[in-house]
Amino acid sequence: MSNRRIACWMSEKKICKINWVEFGKTSLQHDFRLFKLDLNKSLESQGPFCVLLHKLTDIIASADQGDPKCASLIKKVEEYIAAHPSVIVLDPIPNVRQLLNRYISYRKINSTNLHKHGIFIPNFCELKSTNVVELSHQLKNAGVTYPFICKPSLGHGKQAHEMSIVFNERGLVDCKMPCVAQSFINHNAVLYKIFIVGDKHHCVERPSLKNFQAGQDQTIHFDSGDVSKAGSRNSLTVLEPHERVDRVEPDSEVLKRIAGTLREAFGMDLLGVDVVIENRTGRYAIIDVNAFPGYDGFPDFFDTLLQCINNKVNAKYDSKLDRLGDKYFDDISLEKIDS
Ligand SMILES: Nc1ncnc2c1ncn2[C@@H]1O[C@H](COP(=O)(O)OP(=O)(O)O)[C@@H](O)[C@H]1O
Ligand SMILES: [Mg+2]
Repeated sequence: MSNRRIACWMSEKKICKINWVEFGKTSLQHDFRLFKLDLNKSLESQGPFCVLLHKLTDIIASADQGDPKCASLIKKVEEYIAAHPSVIVLDPIPNVRQLLNRYISYRKINSTNLHKHGIFIPNFCELKSTNVVELSHQLKNAGVTYPFICKPSLGHGKQAHEMSIVFNERGLVDCKMPCVAQSFINHNAVLYKIFIVGDKHHCVERPSLKNFQAGQDQTIHFDSGDVSKAGSRNSLTVLEPHERVDRVEPDSEVLKRIAGTLREAFGMDLLGVDVVIENRTGRYAIIDVNAFPGYDGFPDFFDTLLQCINNKVNAKYDSKLDRLGDKYFDDISLEKIDS
């Protein structure tokens, strides 16, 4: 195959974090040529390429929110993909879309069989109303308990990370609608991030919110960007001295099951999953799933990514050969019938 070019698109912010020299080199080692796709130019003029690797989540989210410039960029990409069905897209745009809305992605996870293995999504519901009585009923029906965490329904974009912890009914007025309310799970301030690349995954530990109890406290507003970054220090993530416990190693079989199940459920190869372990029960709770996460701390990330891309390209090429083969034999039998 001659066309082993990978078109890559990411936001400026993400572009700056990537070591392009190393990424380019590793691509060459796998016999791929990598280039940065410019969405402001004609895509056709930058082709042909066999792989589109992208982190278009924020643009898709803004397009879905009615931003005309983002909508036209996404349309351009979708039209290109439709016109070139052989291009492998990591990950397909409709699949990425399922992750933009937290409520939709939680429901999707709940439809898998993970609950049979003791892995759960903390109870949640989507809140839209401003009527406190109605909200109270909705929370009760969904089994959401105090304290709960209130997350913007839209998981991407500027305000997606402005969250609140609500401790009592009085705090209901503090929820910014539309949002997803989710029971707060005490987890000793440790978050596990599972980074998935195709059939490989790697788990890293990050700081997380400390334990909370229902009570008379005022609602706490926080920006989740300040909480679970590597090395971040925030008073909300410091456990009370009497709560400090020895670290537990998460069960690798459970992590593997989560990674495999969600990869299949969402039909995506590049995923990040946030998991916490409930302190009283030891049960694993999934609290967040993201497309194309940061992969900070993933050993040999570029090599693993290129292996994943190579497997996909080969699988597509093989299935094309199979189809050509079928057609070849069909043609022969047709010829036989004709003669
Ligand atoms: N149900 C929950 N129980 C306890 N802590 C939670 C829960 N959901 C989220 N958190 C905490 O809030 C942080 C941000 O939530 P998350 O859903 O991961 O949003 P984001 O999209 O901003 O990453 C998490 O890293 C974790 O520390
Ligand atoms: Mg998260």
